[in-house]
Order: sequence, then C-alpha cells, then structure tokens
Amino acid sequence: MHVFAVLIAAYAILAYGFRPLGEFVGPEMRANFQAHQLGIYTHVFAATIALLLGPFQFIERLRRKRPRLHRISGRIYLGVGVGFGGLAGLYMASFAYGGPVAKLGFAGLASAWLYTGWQAYRAIRRGDVATHRRWIVRNFALTLAAVSLRILLPLSGISGIPFATAYPAVAWLCWIPNLLLAEWILAGQITPRFFSNSR
Ligand code: HEM
Repeated sequence: MHVFAVLIAAYAILAYGFRPLGEFVGPEMRANFQAHQLGIYTHVFAATIALLLGPFQFIERLRRKRPRLHRISGRIYLGVGVGFGGLAGLYMASFAYGGPVAKLGFAGLASAWLYTGWQAYRAIRRGDVATHRRWIVRNFALTLAAVSLRILLPLSGISGIPFATAYPAVAWLCWIPNLLLAEWILAGQITPRFFSNSR
C-alpha cells in the first residue's frame, strides 16, 4: 500500500509539477487539462497529499505514540486531500475523456470519496472511533483508486484493448472493486495488519 501510494504520488508530482501540462496523456485529455488548468492542478496536488498521508494514518504505533500528529495529518488528509481533491475531481469528471460512462464513473468516485470522508470526519468529531475507522477504511480504499487506475490502464493496453474502450470501463473498475474489498475487510473476512490489534 505504502509503496504503490508513494510511486503514484511521485508520478503525479513529477508529471504535473515539473513537466508541461498533459505531456504524458493523449491529445484530447491534454487539451481538456489545458482548458481547465485550475481544476486539474488543484485535483492532482490535493489528491496527491491524500495519497501520501493516508498510508501513515494506518500505522497503529504512530497513532498510539503521536496522537496529535495523527490528528493534524488527518485534518490535512480529509480537508485538503479529500476535500479539495474530491471537489476538483468532481469538477474534472464533468469534462473527463471517454464520454458519459467515464464521466459518471469518475463523478461516482468523487461523490463516494467526499461522502465517506465527511462521514469519517463527523464520526471522529463526536468521538466515535469505531465508526470513524470504518468510514476511513472505505475512504482510503477510494483514494487507492488512483493506484488501481494506473495499474489497470497499462494492463488493458498490454491486452490490446483500445484506450477509448478501456478508459470508460476503468473509470468504474478503479474504485468499485476497492470498495468491495473494503467492505470485505470490514465484514471481518480478511484482516490486514493495520486492523488486527486495533479493534
Ligand atoms: C478518489 C477520487 C478521485 C477522483 C474522483 C479523480 C478524478 C479524476 C478525473 C476526473 C481526472 C481527469 C481524467 C480525464 O480528464 O479523463 C483525473 C486525473 C488525474 N488524477 Fe484523479 N481522481 C481521484 C483520485 C486521485 C488521486 C488520489 C490522485 C493522486 C495521485 C489522482 C491523480 C490524478 C492525476 C495525476 C490525473 C491526471 C491524469 C494522468 O496523468 O494520468 N487522482 N482524476
């Protein structure tokens, strides 16, 4: 989780912080990004913050030893990462490449990301740690859609599926399985290490 999150975050920082906008995407997406620069830059950099901070929030020892750090980092994760990243993602979804299926897929992801983040925040504000944890597991599963997307796209390319066909499907497949896996974890079917000693 940490390795993939850091790798994709590094890609985003390098590609969008140091290279001309849209250098690594096709001409249609590039034109779209150039027409909505504030939207794409806000999305990429805010969402990258979520991707970088998220994994550390799950380290039990860090939460126990540095609770203040967990709270500060959690506020940045939810407020800047999910809040700004999600709103800008929702905005960019309305222009996404791949037609209505892709637009709806990304809009669904953005809405679910914002909603689960909001629920996680509300739960912790009223001191309900168990509920907070459940919503955060769902929320971070959605953050990892950025990782799934960038695994699925090259795989579909290798399989010979044209990009225009693959992209709308990937707009859904990058997050629905993640959410199902999160529900599976929450139902107790599998127990990742971060969950085992903190129930
Ligand atoms: C979880 C909610 C997310 C939603 C709803 C979302 C939505 C979108 C949308 C709609 C686009 C434009 C795609 C197009 O025009 O076809 C996009 C692009 C992008 N997003 Fe996200 N995204 C999310 C999470 C993330 C995260 C966590 C990152 C962190 C790295 C990220 C990084 C990027 C990057 C780098 C691009 C530019 C495309 C590329 O270079 O491959 N996104 N996103």
